[in-house]
Amino acid sequence: MKQILVTGGAGYIGSHTAVELINAGYEVVIVDNLSNSGIESLDGIEKITGIRPAFEQFDLVEKDKLEDFFTRYKNIVAIIHFAASKAVGESVEIPLVYYRNNLVSLINLLECQLKFGISNIVFSSSCTVYGQPDQLPVTENTPRKDAESPYGNTKRVNEDILKDTIAANPAIKGIALRYFNPVGAHPSALIGELPLGVPANLVPFITQTAAGLRSELKVFGNDYDTVDGSAVRDYINVVDLAKAHVVAVERLLDNKNKSGYEIFNLGTGNGVSVLEAVQAFEKASGVKLNYKIVGRRAGDIEKIWADTTFANEELGWKAKTGLEETMLSAWLWEKRVRGME
Ligand code: NAD
Ligand code: WQD
Repeated sequence: MKQILVTGGAGYIGSHTAVELINAGYEVVIVDNLSNSGIESLDGIEKITGIRPAFEQFDLVEKDKLEDFFTRYKNIVAIIHFAASKAVGESVEIPLVYYRNNLVSLINLLECQLKFGISNIVFSSSCTVYGQPDQLPVTENTPRKDAESPYGNTKRVNEDILKDTIAANPAIKGIALRYFNPVGAHPSALIGELPLGVPANLVPFITQTAAGLRSELKVFGNDYDTVDGSAVRDYINVVDLAKAHVVAVERLLDNKNKSGYEIFNLGTGNGVSVLEAVQAFEKASGVKLNYKIVGRRAGDIEKIWADTTFANEELGWKAKTGLEETMLSAWLWEKRVRGME
């Protein structure tokens, strides 16, 4: 069976992708230092699929450990690289931690790919590389803007590291996937997003407010140039997103990629305002949310959503799950985690 290395596979998007890879017949090997996740996510993967993936706990920044790993796992045909630090605000406070973790991890992986002869890598990038685009929706050719945060800059620089390494080493092929806003959980409610501390992202804040952990949701801004004044994003269901990774790996394994380095936007193609997201949650869950409009959040962009034509046509992938169904999955997960069923 073909082995796929999933770095960060105990985390939110990685655990959902591990499930889809196993369902598609791949053998998954997870490397994670559990800095932002717990071993319970492996239990969830096992309950859903009936298979417990191999798991190695270490930090990708430690190159000797990574080299030792590749001497022991000899059947890896592709890497999906999720592992990274991802909190935008924290990256402003401790930029060196972010640069070291996110840049050194990818450099170590690429050096090991060259050393151990592993051709294929899929990298988790982000719509953050577009900043506030001049034109919407954004295509993969929309120019990137200067990053708004050290975190965002690590995504931009990592894309460049990947592109330049592939240009110099045709033995390596890579796909960067630019996620828009991943939300929701597996419909089984056995895996999902579990932020440490107070959530910075909208949907975990909504579900924690509905569960009574937070007294109210603050809606950041109602004076944007959007449908109702609140900011607009492209919320993509995490299982749909996970499925795109299986397709991306298969594109690399089947040599279907048109160039050594490709980029795909992964979103729904629909812009949704914060207030529309709140309404979708209320409708799906039947819970009335206590929210208050406050001022804009520093560093927020006004609106962004994806042009998904390239992913639809070239990958043959399309986001399928509607926002209400996605909100329901997030709510069922929150309720299970809080013992509210
Ligand atoms: P997550 O924090 O849930 O998962 C990342 C995992 O990587 C965690 O389990 C963490 O313990 C692990 N990790 C971090 N640094 C590591 C290291 N040096 N060595 C080994 N393991 C390490 O995050 P996620 O939401 O699943 O995000 C996955 C990827 O997608 C990240 O690269 C993130 O930047 C990117 N991304 C996420 C979003 C989002 O909103 N969630 C949006 C765009 C891009
Ligand atoms: C969404 C909308 C908020 C919380 C961030 C990163 C980005 C990417 C995805 C990784 C915004 C509003 C939020 C709240 C609110 N991650 N909001 N009240 O800011 O689009 O993107 O995560 O690459 O890089 O910056 O996502 O979920 O934080 O916010 O009103 O309590 O919800 O202002 O308009 P964002 P988010």
